[in-house]
Amino acid sequence: MTEGKSMPRHIAIIMDGNGRWAKERGLPRRAGHRAGAESVRECVEACKEMGVEYMTLYAFSSENWSRPLAEITALMALLERFLEEKAEELMRQDVKLAAIGHLERLPKRTRAKLEKAIQRTSGNKSLTLVLALSYGSREEIVEAARALATDAVAGKIDPAKIDNAMFASRLFTAGIPDPDLLIRTSGELRVSNFLLWQISYSEIVIVKKFWPDFRQADLFEAAQEYSRRHRRFGGL
Ligand code: IPE
Ligand code: IPE
Ligand code: MG
Repeated sequence: MTEGKSMPRHIAIIMDGNGRWAKERGLPRRAGHRAGAESVRECVEACKEMGVEYMTLYAFSSENWSRPLAEITALMALLERFLEEKAEELMRQDVKLAAIGHLERLPKRTRAKLEKAIQRTSGNKSLTLVLALSYGSREEIVEAARALATDAVAGKIDPAKIDNAMFASRLFTAGIPDPDLLIRTSGELRVSNFLLWQISYSEIVIVKKFWPDFRQADLFEAAQEYSRRHRRFGGL
């Protein structure tokens, strides 16, 4: 598939179903997470091919901290491995890495590796790969409201001037355009606290496959489905 005018500029993905993928095979959940890394690689390639500018991946939610410690540890170890092994590839592909979420809650070593990879790829231009880590949209919105209220009380901003743009500038995603296309794998029909503000007018595609089975062809298909949609934004 080649770049077209109705291609999404920003694709956001809720990468779901790793645990069930592993369970079906009698494997531990972490094996599903590991297999999911290959899907990430393929999706980066597919986005590059389509000329997509941003891809945001929901990798770890605020709520995922409630999972058993062993699973959290395995996920963080995988993330570290991904950051170490993929940094070179991201450089080759001209992909810039970014992250949204409460990164300070990540283990120190994970965060250090994340920041190193972000720093290293900061000059890249073709695709921005945004990892949502320790991310929760309600917290993000509440914190933006709190920051604006604090500035208003301090007399730094006029509450009457708070508008959509000013609010969006206080979110983790400040400067990133809203997703055009939101994909969730594993067939679940929910958004699980992901980018609630930002997906107001995103086109949603639900794919039944578990995340480790989601390949380039599936992303192309979702983009094609997107290009057939008629976005109205409340108009006609
Ligand atoms: C998605 O797969 C990855 C993360 C949430 C970190 P899950 O771990 O949620 O797998 P399922 O949904 O239980 O199958
Ligand atoms: C959403 O998946 C979070 C990520 C993909 C990181 P979950 O598996 O955590 O969501 P629920 O529990 O099914 O809503
Ligand atoms: Mg899940």
